[in-house]
Amino acid sequence: MEILHVSAECYPVAKVGGLGDVVGALPKYQNQLGHTAKVVLPMYRTKFLFDHQFDTVHQGSFDMGEHWFNYSIIKERKNTLGFDLYLVDINGMLDRQSVYGYGDDSERFTAFQIAVVDWLSQWKHQPDIVHVHDHHAGLIPFMMKYCTAYRNLAEVATVLTIHNAQYQGWMGWDKSRYLPDWNSFDWGNLDWQNNINPLASAVKCARVVTTVSQRYLEEMRQNANGLEKLFDYERGKFKGILNGIDTEVWDPSVDPYVSPNFNLIDASLGKLANKKKLCEQFNLDLEKPLFIFIGRLVYEKAADLLPQVIYDSIYHMEGKMNFLVLGSGESTVEAELENMKSKLVGYYNSKIGYNEQLSHQMYAGADFLIMPSRVEPCGLNQMYAMRYGTIPLVRNTGGLQDTVKDFGEPNGYGICFNDATVWDITHAIYRALEIYNQPKLLKKLVTKIMKLDNSWESSAKKYLDLYQSIL
Ligand code: ADP
Ligand code: GLC
Repeated sequence: MEILHVSAECYPVAKVGGLGDVVGALPKYQNQLGHTAKVVLPMYRTKFLFDHQFDTVHQGSFDMGEHWFNYSIIKERKNTLGFDLYLVDINGMLDRQSVYGYGDDSERFTAFQIAVVDWLSQWKHQPDIVHVHDHHAGLIPFMMKYCTAYRNLAEVATVLTIHNAQYQGWMGWDKSRYLPDWNSFDWGNLDWQNNINPLASAVKCARVVTTVSQRYLEEMRQNANGLEKLFDYERGKFKGILNGIDTEVWDPSVDPYVSPNFNLIDASLGKLANKKKLCEQFNLDLEKPLFIFIGRLVYEKAADLLPQVIYDSIYHMEGKMNFLVLGSGESTVEAELENMKSKLVGYYNSKIGYNEQLSHQMYAGADFLIMPSRVEPCGLNQMYAMRYGTIPLVRNTGGLQDTVKDFGEPNGYGICFNDATVWDITHAIYRALEIYNQPKLLKKLVTKIMKLDNSWESSAKKYLDLYQSIL
């Protein structure tokens, strides 16, 4: 089968979170299973662009409202990522350094999607599957089905994967003029509660819809930022397929960011040496258990609770642990995390910002990872942490619930709790200290988590079976 993935992120070209990791890995594994998976994303001005060579493979133009755009599709020359990578260049729209966060994001991603569909309509043959990810590619199934200029794509099978239903890409109906000509009779396929809602539109128009864990599939019918009824109504189309991790990129025995590298056999020594470096860099105490948080500092991740959790744990448990936080997001949380540094010297430190290298070093050097997310469709951090021998403390939700089993249960290995509250998280930290103080148990759990198989192999195959079922 030939599959075209359309996404706003793809590691290592452009990554903000887990979407980038998934789109950077899944196509590679699909190719290894004997298929042809390709990826197209906007040509942002990221480092990858300047470090690699590209050929222009297509040029075209389209109008969007009052504006006329020329676009180019460039292809990476050497198949560096294990799949064909295509980037869409639109001057003035996509040529920015960051992926998101601009006032004209609606226009930027609409333009990206029109360019992709326009290009696709001119392929000599059609791919078997167009697989769109999240709302940034959510208008594509509609355009392929209902835009008059692209009727030749109407029969191509489309798959939507929802990585996070909190973000839907709403825009007012005044922006409908941006879309290539369509019959106004079809407006209902764009609309949700009087707005154009690209995620809802993709749910309505795609042939099948997946989300990234079985548990989140169940939760989203009750909690999906206003789309609950739609998800329930369309439930026959939905399937949960758990994400995997790219075990070639995330392998502590060869990870270039980690030094020294380590494996299952020498994990204790290897992790200790990595922890020592982190402790020196961040003025923390090697003797104490190190708890880390890595992620977007937003409400869904319950990042707002971190300051209180850190204070309470340090004060109520007599400073028996250290904390290190890496993340960026809401400015109030960032400011609070920064301000705490001077008050908790030697117990806590943080790095505000995005730092891929440091994240790998933290998974390698920490003892415990805290992930108290209010919403977590899958979550990759907990899987990376476990592969690097770091025990996860997770809230029982979404993919966290599907991937972590409490050590109190038979064959368990992590720490699970029910509520995103300061009390529940601190209690989980208390339980982690108990593990840390029993070296035999600690070692047993570290060995267990490092052996878990969360690789992409089985999930990549599930996607292929799903494609097959709709062809
Ligand atoms: P989400 O996609 O919701 O942010 P995931 O757990 O699926 O959450 O994936 C997050 C990914 O982003 C992981 O690869 C994690 O290591 C990475 N990440 C998040 N924040 C940062 C940061 N500040 N610096 C480096 N990597 C980060
Ligand atoms: C989203 C979700 C996260 C998931 C990731 C990759 O960003 O928030 O839980 O792991 O996508 O699917």
